[in-house]
Amino acid sequence: MSQDPIYPPNREFTAKASVSGMDAYRRLYTEAAEQPEEFWGQLAGEHLHWFQKWSHVFEWNPPFVKWFVGGKTNVSYNCLDRHLNSPRKDKVAILWEGEPGDSRAITYTELHRLVCRFSNVLLARGLKTGDRAILYMPMIPELPIAMLACARLGITHSVVFGGFSSEALKARIQDLGAQVVITADGGWRRAKEVRLKDAVDEAITGECPSVKDVIVCRRTGSDTPMQPGRDHWWHELDAASQDHCPAVELDSEHPLYVLYTSGTTGKPKGILHTTGGYLLHATMTMRWVFDIKEEDVYWCSADIGWVTGHSYIVYGPLSAGTTTVMYEGAPDTPAFDRWWALVAKYKVNIFYTSPTAIRALIRQGDEWPAKHDLSSLRLLGSVGEPINPAAWEWYHRVIGKGRCPIVDTWWQTETGGIMIAPMPGAVPLKPGSATLPMPGVLPEIVSLEGKPVGDDQEGFLILKRPWPGMLRTIWGDPERYREQYWSRVPGVYFTGDAARRDKDGYYWILGRVDDVMNVSGHRLSTMEVESALVKHPAVAEAAVVGKPHEITGQAVCCFVTLKKGDYSHDILGKELRQWVAHEIGAFARPAEIRFTEALPKTRSGKIMRRLLREIVTSNSVAGDVTTLEDMSVVTRLAAQHDED
Ligand code: WT7
Repeated sequence: MSQDPIYPPNREFTAKASVSGMDAYRRLYTEAAEQPEEFWGQLAGEHLHWFQKWSHVFEWNPPFVKWFVGGKTNVSYNCLDRHLNSPRKDKVAILWEGEPGDSRAITYTELHRLVCRFSNVLLARGLKTGDRAILYMPMIPELPIAMLACARLGITHSVVFGGFSSEALKARIQDLGAQVVITADGGWRRAKEVRLKDAVDEAITGECPSVKDVIVCRRTGSDTPMQPGRDHWWHELDAASQDHCPAVELDSEHPLYVLYTSGTTGKPKGILHTTGGYLLHATMTMRWVFDIKEEDVYWCSADIGWVTGHSYIVYGPLSAGTTTVMYEGAPDTPAFDRWWALVAKYKVNIFYTSPTAIRALIRQGDEWPAKHDLSSLRLLGSVGEPINPAAWEWYHRVIGKGRCPIVDTWWQTETGGIMIAPMPGAVPLKPGSATLPMPGVLPEIVSLEGKPVGDDQEGFLILKRPWPGMLRTIWGDPERYREQYWSRVPGVYFTGDAARRDKDGYYWILGRVDDVMNVSGHRLSTMEVESALVKHPAVAEAAVVGKPHEITGQAVCCFVTLKKGDYSHDILGKELRQWVAHEIGAFARPAEIRFTEALPKTRSGKIMRRLLREIVTSNSVAGDVTTLEDMSVVTRLAAQHDED
């Protein structure tokens, strides 16, 4: 595709970049590919602190990998303690702003103290290395504090995004067998309180016997019933705590966290990330992709409830000694310029967000960013879905003033860190392409039979070699791990994405090839929404597909058949949308419910989602949703076209 516009790195940026010029990039890439042990071993020694050195850099027993075997380290120590013997001790670690406008600047010394105090709180509750904690919190500093306290003690944490419902929370607590839930009374979003403790009560009362303690941080100050013996206020426990708490010397493969993500069934997968390899991946990509400098103020606008927030708000930035910005609320509160006001106020140098957010802001008009001084920005990033060239150009021109490179970063919850992205001082950009792989990442585009396809041919994106931040397994289900990622094309990691590679070796990600939707950059499985729908007493069957949407990328569209009875489609449609929001979370609320007499199926009874996808795609222009008759036609057609 030689007609793609190309943006070479600008000279000013390249002059100061830690990796400048294509030769430097190629040297790193080749060394990692040809001598992975030397390459990663050297970086791990240089960029992380170890209590005890490893005996092997990695051990690969497909599909299971270990990195820095025998090494002892601690993520919390790397993110905090090691910075305290340097000028970084007085540097701001977290620059936080609440939605109502309150703010906190927490230095590395202070963050270390707060994390130690909370670690002692956890110890006092009887928690120990190997236990599990669920974190269900708003975007307040106590969330990273709780994560770092868990990491300090070797308590495996699982952050559940605050937008998930009590039902989704319950399933995660149960799967993880968590001993403690850490939450808050609520958080602020669009000037309304999102009640979190209420959802915790609904999730665990009588149904989560593993949970012994609930620790509640006071954020909104609203009335919050507390169950004596089980529930404790964070500030009350903290008052009895102390400042000193040594980091536990943990095995490099100690489970750091589990993060649940949607798979192709109704049951979310607990993606397990461990310690040494994960942290090295997060730390190195901060340098390579964000070209992080000592004086930079860096802001990733994601929620910590998603992997982006784990790796690029908390662990990567803090390990690299960065000032990381955290904002609690919505981008449109009180108005559509809130983000740009924050960039100007905190003099943000690096800004990392999602295409869905960019598209939503484009729609509001250029006058919002124009109100603020964005001259501090020097680098922009994008993540979560393919960025369409029009959104890329706007981001580049209106936010970056044509001066800031854009790093389009392809990766997944499973990969732990960025996999395909430009090093901004080296790699020329092509809008819409995530460009070239990181060192140690060996992608290929293959057919279903696993054969590489040619330049510019579409195929399945696979990864041929394990990398440091790779998921280790699915929590409690190694068979599903093997089956999901390593068996579609035997011996290689199956990403679930379709892609093509152009003549210059650039990767163009095309989207998911499985039954996974991408709504506002959030992964959601069609099966998960279907199983939520069929729990409703009126629903007989449901089929769910993603429908193209201008802003959110995809929107949830549901085809539903009903049990016998008299229903008002209008009322029931509203009820079902609310039902799904209650079962999964508000972000999963369907855009559309279409009632139909039958669903198109193959002779063996499989729902033909491909056909439904075609229907919603072609219908989306006209916006006509009365498809009752069409559906029966489709069903008849489908039987002739039997796909099995
Ligand atoms: C899926 C992973 C990694 C953090 C956010 C999402 C899509 C992600 C890009 C990109 C095109 C992208 C893929 C991937 N995706 N980044 N830069 N260009 N597609 O994490 O929920 O695990 O979803 O998001 O389809 O497989 P996730």
